[in-house]
Amino acid sequence: MKAATTSTFALSLALPAALALGALSGCKRAKSKPDALTEARTTFAMVCARCHGPDGGGGGITPGIAAPRNFRDAQFQKERSDDDLLRAIREGKGAMPPFNNVYSAEQMTALVQVIRGFNPEKSR
Ligand code: HEC
Repeated sequence: MKAATTSTFALSLALPAALALGALSGCKRAKSKPDALTEARTTFAMVCARCHGPDGGGGGITPGIAAPRNFRDAQFQKERSDDDLLRAIREGKGAMPPFNNVYSAEQMTALVQVIRGFNPEKSR
């Protein structure tokens, strides 16, 4: 009984130590966190696509909400500045809710880049 208690005690010391070591080495790798654009693409797919369509075409998959803009329309892309797009995301527009309390400025800027990525004329 006493032996069991001792080895359990030893384990309880060894385990956190191992975890701490793992966390430390993980920390070094964590420097290359998923970049903002990758994260924003995921956000678009999970949040924005509900209304804007997974391909940004504005298909909309929320019944009762008019199809929003077609981000795949080169004309639309030309007519909007980055600031226009950012403002719509930050403050909302029409049926679209504002996202300034949800995302950081950096995240919203990355979302603008995702929308630019839908431009068919963007051949860069
Ligand atoms: C509830 C549905 C809905 C969701 C969710 C939504 N939008 Fe929208 N969005 C709209 C609608 C509708 C419009 C058109 C508003 C108008 O002009 O009347 C719009 C407009 C926009 C515009 C401006 C287009 C223009 O006319 O300049 C941008 C940019 C935009 N959305 C980005 C996003 C991003 C990024 C997300 C995700 C963080 C998102 N939207 C989530 C419905 C939505």
